[in-house]
Amino acid sequence: MAQTSQRLEPLDQSPLSGRTCVVTGSSRGIGREIALEFARCGGDVVVNYHTSEGRAREVADVIEANDRTAICVGADVANPQQVERMADEIHETLGSVDVLVNNAGITLDNKFENMTHEDWNRVMQVNLNGTFNCTKTFYDDVKSADHGRLINISSVVGQQGNYGQANYATSKGGLIAFTRTIALELARHGSTANCVAPGFTETDMLEKVPDRVREKIKENIPLNRFADPRDIVGVVRFLASDHSDYMTGQVLGINGGMEW
Ligand SMILES: NC(=O)c1ccc[n+]([C@@H]2O[C@H](COP(=O)([O-])OP(=O)(O)OC[C@H]3O[C@@H](n4cnc5c(N)ncnc54)[C@H](OP(=O)(O)O)[C@@H]3O)[C@@H](O)[C@H]2O)c1
Repeated sequence: MAQTSQRLEPLDQSPLSGRTCVVTGSSRGIGREIALEFARCGGDVVVNYHTSEGRAREVADVIEANDRTAICVGADVANPQQVERMADEIHETLGSVDVLVNNAGITLDNKFENMTHEDWNRVMQVNLNGTFNCTKTFYDDVKSADHGRLINISSVVGQQGNYGQANYATSKGGLIAFTRTIALELARHGSTANCVAPGFTETDMLEKVPDRVREKIKENIPLNRFADPRDIVGVVRFLASDHSDYMTGQVLGINGGMEW
């Protein structure tokens, strides 16, 4: 017989309340939307930027205007000393970090035969070493948090490769292997590490792609449109929340149905 007396508790509207969340590269694009979503969920948010201080300040202003807490901290994630200084500032103002989203990323596209060592190295330094630097710096925080979360922003390009993006695809594929390994090491502490692999998303990054290439890309997207940055945040919110407690080492694709 059905148990009609069972109470259905309403969903928690502030699943990140009391948690400190760092989102690297959140002055613009996908990172900005993640930072705003975390604030909406009650988290205290660190808006990290490299060059766009004004835009990062704007993100923090929106959060504060909504009676939530945000601080803006500049740091080039590729530079370990700057990441250490960022951590000092965060620890002084907000305390230990519960959620780290390694979102900062760049592209420097070129056909492989024209790709320079500089273009290869800089993409690795930001996308891959930047993730290493931030994870290294906040690892103990995430490890000891009650529901510690590491969320790395990879890409469908890291899964299937892409013409003209040998450096970028390699860095994003590397993030998947990195995430799976850290997931295994974090597991005994009850913290998790997962990857989100967005498809082509309407941000400044995609803006740099020539129109004719954009049209060709779109033809291969079953949902027949690029993602809006807000299409990405629901999955990131889920991964940051307690709802994903039993999920680790996974890659969640949000790509309009592209195969890989
Ligand atoms: N857009 C896409 O189609 C797409 C698809 C799949 C995955 N992704 C990934 O999603 C992430 C966000 O991409 P997006 O499209 O939102 O890019 P975006 O609009 O170009 O924004 C990039 C963000 O990263 C920051 N950043 C860049 N270099 C940095 C550094 N050295 N240190 C700290 N922050 C740095 C930028 O900050 P400043 O402005 O302050 O320099 C900016 O906030 C990236 O990892 C990207 O690879 C994007």
